[in-house]
Amino acid sequence: MTPEHVPPSVPAGLRWSAATSAFQIEGSRPTGAVGRSIWDDFLERPGAIIDGSTADPACDSYRHPEADVALAAGLGLDRYRFSIPWARVQPDGRGAGDAGALDHYSRLVDLLLEAGVAPFPTLFHWEMPSAIEADGGWLERDTAERFAEYANIVADRLGDRVRQWYTINEPAMTTLQGYAVGTLAPGRQLLFDALPTAHHQLLAHARAASVLRERGASTVGLANNHTWVLPLHDTAEDREAAAVYDLLHNRVFSAPLLDGAYPDLESLGLPPMPVRDGDLEEIGRSIDFYGINFYNPTTVTTAAAGSPVPFDIVPTPGVPVTGFGPEWPIMPAALRDLLIDLHARHPHLPPVVIAENGAAFPEPARAGRIDDTDRIEYLAGHLAAVGEAVDAGVSVEEYTVWSLLDNWEWADGYTQRFGLVHVDFETGERTPKASYDWYRDVIASSRAAAATAVAS
Ligand code: BGC
Repeated sequence: MTPEHVPPSVPAGLRWSAATSAFQIEGSRPTGAVGRSIWDDFLERPGAIIDGSTADPACDSYRHPEADVALAAGLGLDRYRFSIPWARVQPDGRGAGDAGALDHYSRLVDLLLEAGVAPFPTLFHWEMPSAIEADGGWLERDTAERFAEYANIVADRLGDRVRQWYTINEPAMTTLQGYAVGTLAPGRQLLFDALPTAHHQLLAHARAASVLRERGASTVGLANNHTWVLPLHDTAEDREAAAVYDLLHNRVFSAPLLDGAYPDLESLGLPPMPVRDGDLEEIGRSIDFYGINFYNPTTVTTAAAGSPVPFDIVPTPGVPVTGFGPEWPIMPAALRDLLIDLHARHPHLPPVVIAENGAAFPEPARAGRIDDTDRIEYLAGHLAAVGEAVDAGVSVEEYTVWSLLDNWEWADGYTQRFGLVHVDFETGERTPKASYDWYRDVIASSRAAAATAVAS
């Protein structure tokens, strides 16, 4: 590790992780697996996926989990974040779990434990069974009950070995991109009528959390996507536009978990949440840690006349960008400010787990060593930002890189590579990038520092 790449202050005692998700790495229809999800449906829509690709075989991980476990162990990770696909476990969205799928995830758990890496699965990383979407998906309250049933099936099989769980990944993205504007599955365009999907996901999370605890889980949380919202101009209009966007992207999903209440939606002319008696109490005491996925800040200005929403998202001036271009600006200080702000606003903020952080940059498709200093700089900058937040009093327990592997980036297909490990999608060959070696060294030196601190 070169000195300029050593993050200035890695918080002592931080746990280390890297993440993937099932649909993005497994291959969509590997031999022996059944079940159809909204992503199988969505990717068949003409034009939905930028390069017209499918997620099959992606990294072909369903058939070769050993290679990925070896890569996770090679980094020295404390935990590996992966997801279990609901549509494989309950292909029809109800009834007993599919034996083949449960065997597969049971084996993956064993492989991880044998390699000394704690399994940290996510129960829902966006792949809703098509059969449930046909019944209304997250627009229906009943989906929360069905999710708890699914959690029970998985915990029944894995709960003897898995003690820590994420329930749902990024409910905000499912609500905003999946149901409001339709750029992700299920591709609905309901605008503000999508808001009930937020409540039903949070309720599903809370119901599943109780089930998991009854089955012996020690630690349960979810992963909320957070952005740090900046007004383009320091004007009352832009500050107001930023506040509305902040509410929709961040606070609708954080406040019920952290304060047991939704922010005031009605004064903005938004429909109320379909809350029933007891829901908010249940959601408000449902997490042992607060999972945050952070990628970039969002700059907002007032909307042009005729826009269906009262804000416009614009490039963040004066900062570098990732492979997505101006859509994904790089600003590590935004993560520090976001963490400090959450801590200040929420007196009951539980320990934070950074559940995803990472960046895509243009990289060759064919196998070969990649000297991805841009990714190293991105990760080092964000780790330093976490360190500054910890110094300011925020409790952060864990840091997770997205992603262990290059994978299928949803509507962006194979055009964006986030991995610490390069994957040649034609041959399946995996080649650790320079960032893999860097992250392994960061983990090793942080452990060594912790051991020295204990000894002295
Ligand atoms: C998601 C991942 C995704 C990553 C990069 C997160 O929103 O959880 O599945 O690949 O961001 O876009």
